[in-house]
Amino acid sequence: MTTRAVVIGCGHFLPSRVVENAEFEATLDTNDEWIRTRSGIERRHFAAEGETTSTMATAAAQAALDDAGLAADDVDAIILATSTADLTFPSAATMVQAQLGMNRGYAFDIQAVCAGFIFALSNANALIVSGQAKRVMVIGAETFSNIMDWTDRSTCVLFGDGAGALLLEAQEGDGASADRGVLSTDLNSDGRHRDLLYVDGGVSTGTTGYLRMQGNQVFRHAVAKLAATATTAMERAGITAEEVDWIVPHQANIRIIQGTAKKLNLPMDRVVVTVQDHGNTSAASIPLALSVGRDRGQIKAGDMIVTEAIGGGLAWGAVVLRW
Ligand code: UT7
Repeated sequence: MTTRAVVIGCGHFLPSRVVENAEFEATLDTNDEWIRTRSGIERRHFAAEGETTSTMATAAAQAALDDAGLAADDVDAIILATSTADLTFPSAATMVQAQLGMNRGYAFDIQAVCAGFIFALSNANALIVSGQAKRVMVIGAETFSNIMDWTDRSTCVLFGDGAGALLLEAQEGDGASADRGVLSTDLNSDGRHRDLLYVDGGVSTGTTGYLRMQGNQVFRHAVAKLAATATTAMERAGITAEEVDWIVPHQANIRIIQGTAKKLNLPMDRVVVTVQDHGNTSAASIPLALSVGRDRGQIKAGDMIVTEAIGGGLAWGAVVLRW
């Protein structure tokens, strides 16, 4: 028997304020056509006053608990992937713990920017397979609207806010790819690429700072690294592309999503795409896409899913799981 980390609930939260591409035309030298054709983004959600990473994460986690029919105290640990925690410390995860009314266990943040959810899911899996936790809430939540330079058209039109959550539970499997749950993971980073995507503020500057990105350089790395990490994870899981029901990629750019699917020999009708409605929500994008894909009726119990993401660091990785 093999212990597997199986998804038993999922949920998401999107702030109610929706901003269409055309709204940026009033303040920036940009237009709907450029944003749509270069990125695939049509609209994004932005947090309103009082909505923070921790409040959105709490809403997503509560939805995942409701989906599983469990209470907060049934969970052993919360891992929250975010680069936009409410405060420098404590972790946003401990704020979620309090907001959920969870009076036991432990909570911590993981920061791997847009790849954060992949890193969080992989670490949650490690806690479960090593027997350190039976149920782990894995959340991706971001308020990138707080780190946008609204005068920089090359970045501020691309990002959005939101949160998604998966509740994982230890269950026994046979050790084969027919098992439900996380089947394999692959994590990578290369700190030499720091300047391609970073925030120019933090504790060392005494400011929050703004996101800076050399978009076309990140693009160059993205397709090759995403296809490579997904292939490695599939090999580790002992599966081929034909067995994959859904790729659920990080939602940064439709052209990266299409290029990666092509490299993996998977048609676009087996890819969950939400970038048009959410923009790039960094660590929230994959759990949002998983939850929306499930609600749309695309993702069903037993489906084989490959998730992959890349972001600042650079950091990138993939997880193969059977839903
Ligand atoms: O999630 C973390 C990882 N991040 C990503 O995966 C993002 C990866 N990169 C991308 O998605 C794309 O590179 C972008 C969407 C950011 C940009 O697309 P691109 O095709 O690589 O365009 P570019 O950066 O090479 O810019 C092309 C032109 C430039 O003008 P010139 O120099 O050719 O005259 C830009 O100044 O487009 C211009 N431009 C804009 N024009 C209208 C940049 N932003 C805008 C804009 N509206 N908002």
